[in-house]
Amino acid sequence: NRCDAVSSNSYSTDVTEFAEIEIDWDKIDFGFKPTDYMYSMKCSRGGDFSNGQLQPFGNIEVNPSAAVLNYGQGLFEGLKAYRKQDGNILLFRPEENAIRMRNGADRMCMPSPTVQQFVEAVKTTVLANKRWIPPPGKGSLYIRPLLMGTGAVLGLAPAPEYTFLIFVSPVGNYFKEGVAPINLIVENEFHRATPGGTGGVKTIGNYAAVLKAQSIAKAKGYSDVLYLDCVHNRYLEEVSSCNIFIVKDNVISTPEIKGTILPGITRKSIIEVARSLGFKVEERNVTVDELVEADEVFCTGTAVVLSPVGSITYKSQRFSYGEDGFGTVSKQLYTSLTSLQMGLTEDNMNWTVQ
Ligand code: COI
Repeated sequence: NRCDAVSSNSYSTDVTEFAEIEIDWDKIDFGFKPTDYMYSMKCSRGGDFSNGQLQPFGNIEVNPSAAVLNYGQGLFEGLKAYRKQDGNILLFRPEENAIRMRNGADRMCMPSPTVQQFVEAVKTTVLANKRWIPPPGKGSLYIRPLLMGTGAVLGLAPAPEYTFLIFVSPVGNYFKEGVAPINLIVENEFHRATPGGTGGVKTIGNYAAVLKAQSIAKAKGYSDVLYLDCVHNRYLEEVSSCNIFIVKDNVISTPEIKGTILPGITRKSIIEVARSLGFKVEERNVTVDELVEADEVFCTGTAVVLSPVGSITYKSQRFSYGEDGFGTVSKQLYTSLTSLQMGLTEDNMNWTVQ
């Protein structure tokens, strides 16, 4: 069981005295907050991951010649743990993150933990940091698994050694708007991904690549950037940190997964929830022109959950969608998804893991 998982690690969670938690749970944001423990497991090229263990959270020592630092050979994941009213802790679809990390690792020439190792490591890390999980309804514990080429290389090649590491941080809403609608700008100059590139995996470089456009947009007062495909500059791709959906006449559409878009787990879950509620959902090419006619637009992601979009600016034209709050469809999907994640309704999808 889960307690055994913690005590079976070579690092005992009883030995260290940790500081009091000084967090105002009513004002918690998405900033990094250090917690008590992190989890680390190593593997050499061609080998298997083994001997994972908890250790006190802190800085790590990395060779300056590590492949992750020099050539960006790294992946990350993101998932959340929620505290239920009855004290139980729920993880949302952790196997999906494990599978996505394995797919990404293949693309980045890295070994990766098995699905079982990944899920066990997540449970172990969450339990060791249990006191940092926000009270029910106040937020969640964001879990950040990393996979890094930590062995030294100089010539361009996969690293000889890899580290799988998990740290966690209690979080609230991702956008400063909270659950209020966000304002996006369509990016015309920069692109996030190219066909045949790495846009479809959660490699660290994808996120560095969007910082420039994002900071220009933020300086102009926008919440984030919506990217278009780099071939036609016409089809919606995704926002820097989340997937995008539009709603028109109760039909929900989202860009299809074709290698340049991150296969979001929240994206997939929203599609399944929407279909189970009877909505028609289309995964297809969505053109930027469709933003003009859309009734509702929203973003999905682990960090953002489901964020309504209040406006999108494209070539100096601003299209608005229910700037006062959620649209009807977005609200219904948000409520259905978060009730499942937080254990407020029966999990008939079988997605949550205790
Ligand atoms: C997540 O939603 O978990 C992500 O990985 C996005 C990140 C930029 C916060």
